[in-house]
Amino acid sequence: MSSDIPTIDFGRFERSEKDGTQLASEIDAALSTVGFLHLVNHGIEQGKIDESFQWVRAKSRKFFSLSPTDKESMYPRSEAYDCGYVSLGQEKVRGKNCMKECVDINGSSGGEMDRILPGFHGFMVQFHQECAILIQKLLKCLSVALGLGDEDALGQHHTDSLFNLNLIHYPEVAAEQLRSGSAVRLPAHSDPGSLTLLFQQKVGGLEIADMSSTCETATVKVEQTAKFIAVEPQPATILVNVGYLLMRWSNGRWKNTVHRVMAPPVSGNTDSVDTVPERYSTAFFSFPGPDTVIEPLDACISVENPRRWAPIIAGKYLRKKISSMYS
Ligand SMILES: [Fe+2]
Repeated sequence: MSSDIPTIDFGRFERSEKDGTQLASEIDAALSTVGFLHLVNHGIEQGKIDESFQWVRAKSRKFFSLSPTDKESMYPRSEAYDCGYVSLGQEKVRGKNCMKECVDINGSSGGEMDRILPGFHGFMVQFHQECAILIQKLLKCLSVALGLGDEDALGQHHTDSLFNLNLIHYPEVAAEQLRSGSAVRLPAHSDPGSLTLLFQQKVGGLEIADMSSTCETATVKVEQTAKFIAVEPQPATILVNVGYLLMRWSNGRWKNTVHRVMAPPVSGNTDSVDTVPERYSTAFFSFPGPDTVIEPLDACISVENPRRWAPIIAGKYLRKKISSMYS
């Protein structure tokens, strides 16, 4: 069913201006309908992506195999910058504790990093920079798609101080716990910022709502009424999706699609599967700068689609969102 998510060949970005307009309109179409797209030839070497997963795998005795004390010493939690280590069950989505641990890395450094896991932070900062460059390229395409007259119209509001590289580990869990709902990996939600890049390894579990299968827009209602589609991890591909602020900025043109992480699909009788294997994924979250006023762009307002939202300040919205996740 993942064929429902369009695949975009981003190799054309560097090649020609003429093709750039076509590329921009394909990205625009994908984000206006599904809200997600698969990006291939995206410019981030597969070797780097593979290495990023090798640095975190618990079984490779890397980041997630460290003691909670060491993980917290390397990355103390800072809600002001939405970064640091989040232990198993600490993150809540609509009151449900998530069966995952993760670390948000925003590029700043501390003293304990290299003493505990030499080389880890340096690699991740570089990976963060590569993701930030890709985000800027995608924002150029979106600016072109809207005909904003300046290809940096959206990108200029994205200082990467709030960009976060979020490394996630979902431990192995008894299948019965996920089936009964006594444990949940990541409940239905939508992302808060601008664009998210998602890197997945072989263990799936991500599902996105088919927003055309429901009339609802609120997350809880969407979860109750929509059909969800499993997104199988695709080799050499980055999954891109739209966050809430970008949806608001585009006056609803780009869809802030609801998604969740469940047990990965299995063939045959699911009752015979006792344990769900651990899953690693990496999300790169981009946000507008904290002082940015997010209000529907004139280019997205028309008689048929009048202004849908009042202005909000990006940083104020995000602080509220983050505090609700950890309180
Ligand atoms: Fe998400």
